[in-house]
Amino acid sequence: MLVVVKKNHDEVSREAARVVSNMLREKPSSILGLATGTTPLDLYNELIRMYKEEGLDFSKVTTFNLDEYIGLPPSHPESYHYFMYENLFKHINVPERFIHVPSGMVDVSEVHRINRFCEWYEEQIVRFGGIDLQLLGIGANGHIGFNEPGSSLGSRTRIKTLSENTRKDNSRFFDNDMDQVPKYAITMGIGTILDSKVILLVASGKNKAKAIKATVEAPITSQVPASAVQMHKRAILIVDEDAASQLDGTYDEFVTNLE
Ligand code: PGA
Repeated sequence: MLVVVKKNHDEVSREAARVVSNMLREKPSSILGLATGTTPLDLYNELIRMYKEEGLDFSKVTTFNLDEYIGLPPSHPESYHYFMYENLFKHINVPERFIHVPSGMVDVSEVHRINRFCEWYEEQIVRFGGIDLQLLGIGANGHIGFNEPGSSLGSRTRIKTLSENTRKDNSRFFDNDMDQVPKYAITMGIGTILDSKVILLVASGKNKAKAIKATVEAPITSQVPASAVQMHKRAILIVDEDAASQLDGTYDEFVTNLE
């Protein structure tokens, strides 16, 4: 696991964008696993800038998003479909037909339909050749995607019940009204994430320090789903000094290559 500590959030975003753009220049038909949340926003802004100013090409790229809330249509401003189109897809030249975001338009009682959809999503990832680079944020509780504490380390794409912590963290996007915050989501599993060729986890801010400590310097446990990245061959964590503030070890300052 390569841990890179940068001064602040902006530097984290730039370094992570550099890793993604290096991969795209090396393999223009990369399969990217993408994440939502506040953390990757500036990374996406940097990729958009590179597309506009430096000719970074997404025309052969395929994307798979990690997760989506159940019950929110793609037009809902808090759906992850909407987030991805607004903050990345509509600004770059990725072909619409290569974009994949789990569908949240299912009824939680339709278990078979949800299971079939989740199997289909996994099959699509395999059909396109597997994810080359999976981008991850991390929850203050150590979740990745919506794999909440207690998620099996071998889990695949499935429906998950969101923890109260996560719902409270995300209520800021729903007028702080817990009744509006979805209770369920479809998420790639930890096993799905670990199948990616490269994992790129980004974190910034003091509120992530405990989760980063538990991810990097504590035993692997399903109670901290992000700690599973310790098992991955090519996991890169890029964190700012605040998120790294509880780490005891000495870490790197930049990513030299993707190996
Ligand atoms: P954040 O979310 O980037 O908005 O902090 C990360 C996550 O919950 O995975």
